[in-house]
Amino acid sequence: MVGPLTPVVHVHADPTSAARAVAERLGGLAADRRARGERFRLAVSGGRTPEPMFRALADAPGGPERWRDWDVFWCDERLVPPADPRSNFGSARRLWLVPAGVPTGNVRPVDTSLPLEAAARAYEVGLRGVFGEAAATTFDAVVLGVGPDGHTASLFPGAASLRARGRWVVGEPHPGQPPRVPRVTLTLAGLGAARHALFLVCGDEKRPVLARILEASPTGRRGPGLPAGQVHGVESTEWFLDRDATPFA
Ligand code: 6PG
Repeated sequence: MVGPLTPVVHVHADPTSAARAVAERLGGLAADRRARGERFRLAVSGGRTPEPMFRALADAPGGPERWRDWDVFWCDERLVPPADPRSNFGSARRLWLVPAGVPTGNVRPVDTSLPLEAAARAYEVGLRGVFGEAAATTFDAVVLGVGPDGHTASLFPGAASLRARGRWVVGEPHPGQPPRVPRVTLTLAGLGAARHALFLVCGDEKRPVLARILEASPTGRRGPGLPAGQVHGVESTEWFLDRDATPFA
């Protein structure tokens, strides 16, 4: 029985193929929502891996009309201005949102002009305004990466943010990996309320950590509790890997 706790792993020949597969999956999920007259609410991550996915989304046919019922959020953000090359919003804006003509009213970045805790709380207030205070599910999809240490979004191993209760968004003042700027991040609760969790992970430097996360222990528990191993979609969890990152290819 494949359920949200049973990750489905897709292995692709190279990073571009894996990224295109995620873009296609998102298009399919969005089409399902549109068929129901619902909006498609997506949260994306930063770093290098999503860049070819943003380009694939920008190349999708249909023009700006395609994005009319998409709402774009972030799984995490660095507390820098959008024009800063480290900005996750800035990266998506440059590679996808502007080239594809995604309506600016559909784009919901973190307000990084605020101090860290205020930025986190403002983002959470915004999310609860969109989804409702006690929503059982939030985003239709979250697209996540994994760091070599097993972090995802800006949830780092051993961080207090992993134990945040009752919060969908927190500030992370001391990231465990570069860029070492303060971060705003969805919590495990914030990520875990998403219907579909899609991980996009490429490159042989990620193979050791993926072996730890995807291995099934005798108890069936996945991985030794690394943050990326603790995120599961309410309906599905899928891993889109290239061959270099795949521990069992
Ligand atoms: C961030 C990301 C982060 C990223 C991993 C992998 O803001 O840094 O959200 O969680 O997904 O660090 O980064 P790469 O794709 O650059 O390897």
